[in-house]
Amino acid sequence: MSSFKDKKIDYKQYVVDSQLRYFKPHASNIEKSFAEEIAFSLNQDYKFISPKFFYDNKGSNLFESICSLPEYYPTRTEVSILKKLENDLPPYLDENVRLVELGSGASVKTRLILDVFTKLQPKTEYFPIDISEILTESSEQLLKDYATLNITGIIDTYEGGLEFLQNYDDKKNLIIFLGSSFGNFSPEDGRIFLKKIFSTMKQGDLFLIGLDLVKDKKILESAYDDSQGVTAKFNLNVLSRINDELGADFIINNFSHYSIYNEDDQRIEMNLKSLTPQSVMIKKSNLSLNLDEGELIHTEYSHKYKPSQIKMLLGDVGFEIKNMWLDDKKYFSLTLVSKN
Ligand code: AVJ
Repeated sequence: MSSFKDKKIDYKQYVVDSQLRYFKPHASNIEKSFAEEIAFSLNQDYKFISPKFFYDNKGSNLFESICSLPEYYPTRTEVSILKKLENDLPPYLDENVRLVELGSGASVKTRLILDVFTKLQPKTEYFPIDISEILTESSEQLLKDYATLNITGIIDTYEGGLEFLQNYDDKKNLIIFLGSSFGNFSPEDGRIFLKKIFSTMKQGDLFLIGLDLVKDKKILESAYDDSQGVTAKFNLNVLSRINDELGADFIINNFSHYSIYNEDDQRIEMNLKSLTPQSVMIKKSNLSLNLDEGELIHTEYSHKYKPSQIKMLLGDVGFEIKNMWLDDKKYFSLTLVSKN
């Protein structure tokens, strides 16, 4: 175990073997910010919990289950588009480009891109960035199947990971951000985030982003309120996590999953609804929370885009659009851009 000093944060380096190591900020930093963020976000008139906190081990596994639900079209649709990239991506890549992934999770879809890289390169470097420890497991799984892979995982927020990368070296990167995770951002925060990515990129670097498209409201609403109740469990799990990690006493049965599609703002809005007037103590956030019957705790936005809006958004930030791929039903998009 050694230490890598970033500008602000101390990372611990864990070397697993010659092909795998990962960096993680000191645990105390992470835990402190979780308690602090919850202390703030649940102490507003409009209460919310950031969706990044969904992904403890249990939440990450629940999300993997969501991905194969019949109602949840995004994952399989994006996979069908990624399969087209087998032929379409190589012209944009060179021998030395490294693959960087924001929100790598279980790294399942990554495999389709890694297939392309490992065919093109004698040695492939992969930098997954994820807030969840699931990263270490998924990296070990990848190494079983890709002998020429070298993995440096960064267990941190997107911003932390991007800054880490910027200070790391001068190698060319293809940054991928799949699954429409960008849809979590409000338009304003999304723009700031894209600018952050743009500013950490070097000339010649590439960015590939997967975004969910606007479609029929019924299809959207059932994708976020499935018949087996997995999405409900995923949403409610964040309260169990707060109970476990921040010493809170949420009674999970006193809340329900409440999700709607807001057509004007082109977004799914996911909430936890308080089923009764109640108070909850969150020890490590030093917060005593009072909720009315029917009061909502907002947990997630999932914004949907039109292809023209995607091009405008990326163009405004300064990116050059290289290509955009859609599936036959026009449910989902992948867009490749560069910084020139
Ligand atoms: C991981 C943010 C892309 O918005 O579709 C799935 C999360 N939430 N079902 C999405 C999610 C409920 C997902 N993202």
